[in-house]
Amino acid sequence: MGEPTVAETKALYGHLISECEKLNIGYIQLMRYIAVLDPEGRGLKDLDVVAEFRPMIKNAAVLVNGDYDGAKAEAAVTAKQADAIAFGRPFIANPDFPDRVKNKVPLAADEFSKWYGVHAADGSIKDRVDGYTSYLPATVA
Ligand SMILES: Cc1cc2nc3c(=O)[nH]c(=O)nc-3n(C[C@H](O)[C@H](O)[C@H](O)COP(=O)(O)O)c2cc1C
Repeated sequence: MGEPTVAETKALYGHLISECEKLNIGYIQLMRYIAVLDPEGRGLKDLDVVAEFRPMIKNAAVLVNGDYDGAKAEAAVTAKQADAIAFGRPFIANPDFPDRVKNKVPLAADEFSKWYGVHAADGSIKDRVDGYTSYLPATVA
């Protein structure tokens, strides 16, 4: 089964964006390529979705996510690559994420093996006692 090519993806999502723009919707979110979310290697790692699609979005606000920290997010918004950055994994590993960004405290890394839905070697879904509530805030880390 073939995966979409870069050219097909540009054509499809370019069309979707132009149609969404006509609907005057509030925002469009672009997700950058992230290797850890692509374990089967099916993603388009060479397609820079921000460079490709951001210029097409004139009406909707542009949210972007994918491997940002506070400094990268600030740089992206300053460069008008996005109106705002959304965060996923940093919130898992940093219960005090907004405070860390505000105070420029380094972020803790999340552990892939502890994500909800990641299966153990025997195929079972592991108990999630230590994946979402066990990361500590910086003050006590
Ligand atoms: C455990 C986990 C579950 C996720 N589930 C979804 C989902 O159900 N739907 C979705 O669109 N994105 C999902 N994502 C992707 C995130 O929304 C986000 O796009 C991604 O983590 C990249 O942002 P980040 O680098 O800030 O984490 C998930 C990510 C993680 C880590």
